[in-house]
Amino acid sequence: MDHVDTWHHGLVARWWAEFNVDGPEIDYFRGLIAAHGVPALDAGCGTGRLLIPLLRDGIDVDGVDVSDHMLAHCRERAEREGLAPRLLAQPLHALELPRRYRTIFVCGSFGIGGEPTLDARAIVRLRGALQAGGVLAIDLPDATDRARWQAWAERALPRMPNPWPDTGEQQVAADGTVLEMRSRISNVDPVGRVLTMQIRVGIRRNGALVDEEEYTLRHSVYSEGQLIALLVAAGCDDVHAVDGYQAAGAIGSGNAEGVVRVVLASAESSAAFDRR
Ligand SMILES: C[S@@+](CC[C@H](N)C(=O)[O-])C[C@H]1O[C@@H](n2cnc3c(N)ncnc32)[C@H](O)[C@@H]1O
Repeated sequence: MDHVDTWHHGLVARWWAEFNVDGPEIDYFRGLIAAHGVPALDAGCGTGRLLIPLLRDGIDVDGVDVSDHMLAHCRERAEREGLAPRLLAQPLHALELPRRYRTIFVCGSFGIGGEPTLDARAIVRLRGALQAGGVLAIDLPDATDRARWQAWAERALPRMPNPWPDTGEQQVAADGTVLEMRSRISNVDPVGRVLTMQIRVGIRRNGALVDEEEYTLRHSVYSEGQLIALLVAAGCDDVHAVDGYQAAGAIGSGNAEGVVRVVLASAESSAAFDRR
């Protein structure tokens, strides 16, 4: 297995582009860039929820993502605002970047695909993309490790696979299209530390559901300690976790309460891209 499976395609990508445009992460990572400098890289930038406001502020930031569909929405949003970002379609584990960065951030994107060997390679590539003195920041899913597994043990595991909810969340897109999204946790694996989630996004026309798409996403759930170990093993310096931003409550995050932790790692010297 050498490719990343995400669910960020088709109508899911459209849902992200239309309705996931805000959040406390934007200010948090803007502050991180202010503290550590540019150029910056938004790794797993998706439809540009963070990238577009940062570009709007005149920040020198590039975006990389494995999903062409997410990037297409990002490019369209940027063009609408007269912005011309450098967007690269690459998986994190095989990054080939045109320059190195002072600040790299990974927001809500690490562990997707459920393939730990690719995640370990991704960390090495991200470390290799830092300038000497640069910083890499990766956020962890919303709840603490203990709270997440506790929530899944109580709410998800006893009924596995969880039934699809009868009704989904409906939202009206900019062109008037009514989109509906439903999601469920279909498996929780505490041994492999993989959460499997499914999503259905459809279009409702005159009340009837048409064009529904279904995707499955496997997500490796890293504890703070595991992520720190990966970063240290990849040759990062001064690896530590800090309190980040207020939890927003992502799908499958368990008890989305409190402050999201962010793991920071620095590079005292620049590394060769092909260390491993
Ligand atoms: C949950 S979205 C977050 C997008 C954006 N960072 C945000 O916060 O709005 C995750 C994004 O990461 C991308 N992604 C997941 N795994 C990836 C990988 N291994 N390499 C590159 N992109 C990846 C997906 O395609 C998707 O666009």
